[in-house]
Amino acid sequence: MSADEHLAENSFLQIEVLVTAPCREALIEILWELETLGCEETGESTRVRLTAFFPVSEETGMLKQQILGRCKEQGWKPLQVSQKLIQFSPQEWLDRYSENFRAFAVGDSFFIYPSWGHPSPTHPVNILLDPGHAFGTGTHESTQLCLLALESSVSGVSTLLDVGTGSGILTIAAQKLNPMLSVFACDNDPLAVEAAHENFLRNQIPSLNLLVGEPATISSQFDLVVANLTAVIIQDLASEISRLARKYVIVAGFTSEQGPSVLESLKENFELLQTFSRNGWLCYKLKSWQES
Ligand SMILES: C[S@@+](CC[C@H](N)C(=O)[O-])C[C@H]1O[C@@H](n2cnc3c(N)ncnc32)[C@H](O)[C@@H]1O
Repeated sequence: MSADEHLAENSFLQIEVLVTAPCREALIEILWELETLGCEETGESTRVRLTAFFPVSEETGMLKQQILGRCKEQGWKPLQVSQKLIQFSPQEWLDRYSENFRAFAVGDSFFIYPSWGHPSPTHPVNILLDPGHAFGTGTHESTQLCLLALESSVSGVSTLLDVGTGSGILTIAAQKLNPMLSVFACDNDPLAVEAAHENFLRNQIPSLNLLVGEPATISSQFDLVVANLTAVIIQDLASEISRLARKYVIVAGFTSEQGPSVLESLKENFELLQTFSRNGWLCYKLKSWQES
């Protein structure tokens, strides 16, 4: 890598915007919509300074004007805007921005944001997530498809089991969508359970029903079982999932080619209700034959 390339790779555009406190929420929305990698906030009661970081690209030069334009559209003007190029070493960036994980929305309900981000005022379910070493930042299609499936599934059920909870994202989403729901989660990776535990705490979800282990170790039944795994693992666990799910199952983590074999493994006990798909990934919502 040349010195110039190395410099460009570690460079970020830092834009600082000072606004009066009532403009804070709108400015945060604007910065996320312009795809900031993350933003930090300092300020007192009347004025707020937001420092946002952006990747350096051909469009970088337009960002300051875009921010000013968007503020003007809303009928106000920042008190001050400044920008500069800054450098972070890869480790500094990783420490600070945990692999560039930035906030984003899924469907109409969910907004997932890291600890250095801000909740969305326009989404009903905000999920504060730091993935640690676990899978499940919500950026993968299979996680997003499960979130979309949960959006329309959790209102009519009272218990849920999340098999392979990873970062805990699906359990947190389900609990926030339906606070009356009793949620349970397991993962056979102790590091994932540790990350899920931290994320439950961040989102004020009790960790009482979070365990390290396989679904075979669980004896209760649940109205809804959600399992974002892989085609092979779902097929291996099909009889356990069938035993644990009283009414519905949401499964994901497989491609369109693998869909038929996943369905085959569950068809004795469940019928297909709905298919969600994105970029070649699938998610099935199934209903127990015994559920009329
Ligand atoms: C693809 S990740 C899904 C994480 C999260 N639920 C999501 O939707 O983003 C799959 C998770 O399942 C866990 N897992 C794999 N096999 C498992 C099994 N047999 N029992 C319990 N957890 C398992 C993995 O450790 C991993 O955290």
